[in-house]
Amino acid sequence: MSSFRNPRERTTEMTKCIACIGAGYVGGPTMAMIAMKCPQYKVHVVDVNEARIAAWKTDDLPIYEPGLLEVVKAARDRNLFFSTDIDGAIREADIIFVSVNTPTKTFGDGAGRAADLQYWEKVARQIVRVAASPKIVVEKSTLPVKTAQTMEAILNAAGDRIHFEVISNPEFLAEGTAVQDLLHPDRVLIGSRETPAGLKARQEIVDIYATWVPADKIVTSNVWSAELSKLVANAFLAQRISSINSISALCEKTEASVREVARAVGMDSRVGPRFLNASVGFGGSCFKKDILNLVYICESYGLHEVARYWEGVLAMNEYQESRFVKAMIRYMFNTIVDKRIALFGFAFKADTSDTRQSPAIFVARKLLDERAQVVVTDPRALDNARLDLGDAAAGVQFTDDPYQAARGAHAVAIMTEWELYRSLDWERIYASMEKPAFVFDGRNILDHQKLFGMGFSVFPIGSPPLKHF
Ligand code: NAD
Ligand code: UGA
Repeated sequence: MSSFRNPRERTTEMTKCIACIGAGYVGGPTMAMIAMKCPQYKVHVVDVNEARIAAWKTDDLPIYEPGLLEVVKAARDRNLFFSTDIDGAIREADIIFVSVNTPTKTFGDGAGRAADLQYWEKVARQIVRVAASPKIVVEKSTLPVKTAQTMEAILNAAGDRIHFEVISNPEFLAEGTAVQDLLHPDRVLIGSRETPAGLKARQEIVDIYATWVPADKIVTSNVWSAELSKLVANAFLAQRISSINSISALCEKTEASVREVARAVGMDSRVGPRFLNASVGFGGSCFKKDILNLVYICESYGLHEVARYWEGVLAMNEYQESRFVKAMIRYMFNTIVDKRIALFGFAFKADTSDTRQSPAIFVARKLLDERAQVVVTDPRALDNARLDLGDAAAGVQFTDDPYQAARGAHAVAIMTEWELYRSLDWERIYASMEKPAFVFDGRNILDHQKLFGMGFSVFPIGSPPLKHF
């Protein structure tokens, strides 16, 4: 066991050292929370990305997350450190969280479905190469069930020189609410081998979270259940959205309102009210990749019907995105050539700068294919939007001012449920737009009747359009 002394507050004895490899949306916030809550641990977060590490050391953090800066500042340079010294971090750590990216494979066997585990495996090999003392290696990344077996094989290939114990501790935080999710998690899941060494390592990880998470929220299991539960949790969440989105299409045909249907259905305590907001589709870095991974795993075990079932969740999401753009074109008199269309929001959800798999990417590209003039506005995500649109970005205008984006536009399409869009001066926006002025509310966040009263033709998700023509 390492012993550290806190450089600033000499009263706190740092008894253990935690390393986290991967300083992204998960590694950064989770380690900042652990460091803040557990001054007795030295927490060293490392990454190969120098710019990212440099940003973690400033007040301009590399990711936008409400409340995160305060958490980071509470521990940074006290017991929370960021660096690119991966070897050094491995060497001094008792516990190593691995939180590298596990994207969908884009090449070779399993391309487009399987998880690309190259970053994870490189880290495992680096740990074996560098480590000089026993370590607990914690899977923080989302991984296919049975990955721990592979990890054990790599970590223990060098023989009995050093013992590595692999723990699965998947992360359930959602972006935009990461700090609250970490402060008050629904549960923390810790899976281990059920051997004496596995159970001892499990307890060490339980002890970290027990500092601030109530005991009844800390769930332990075998390592395979923990790995699989993470994929299944995301699949169930995405399934709810696809379920309500499928019903939104039916509502638009039948004059039912999806908001009213969701409310009535969600009041059944067996169903529950959350995650029933119909939308232009779900985005984010994980739902699609984790379901693809689940599908791939099912296929590899010959469970074809199970694979088809979960594939349906993704097919419905693609349908919802493309249905949204088709409706825009149809209602705008079947041509949008040279029409200015303002996309309000580009982040995949509110309160994040993350745009990975955002439905706005699909919508923007389709509108550009139809030769519309696309303007993108977003309070936090414009840099990522430019990157996502690649070469196409040259033909897109970007502004952080929604009023400027809407000026001279034929249509505004709400892509992200940013709170600020609810309180805009919509009279002013209407006055500055071409007529007829269209609003396509891909998040159902606006007061549709009020906008209709101002003169807008309004196209919500999951209820009939309010048209002036
Ligand atoms: P991310 O891309 O933001 O961060 C991953 C980081 O790992 C990057 O900064 C990258 O440079 C670094 N990295 C990659 N290879 C490395 C190596 N060999 N050595 C050192 N650093 C390396 O990814 P993320 O969103 O934080 O997701 C990480 C994992 O957590 C994924 O498996 C994801 O599925 C899972 N997850 C993500 C979320 C989320 O909200 N983003 C939530 C729960 C779980
Ligand atoms: C999701 C899960 O909620 C987290 O528990 C999980 O840890 C994480 O994935 C992960 O593994 O990466 P996240 O993607 O950050 O978190 O955000 P969500 O709040 O789940 O939203 C995902 C997408 O679904 C967003 O595009 C959001 O706008 C959309 N959504 C959500 C809807 O369209 N309707 C809803 O009712 C809820």
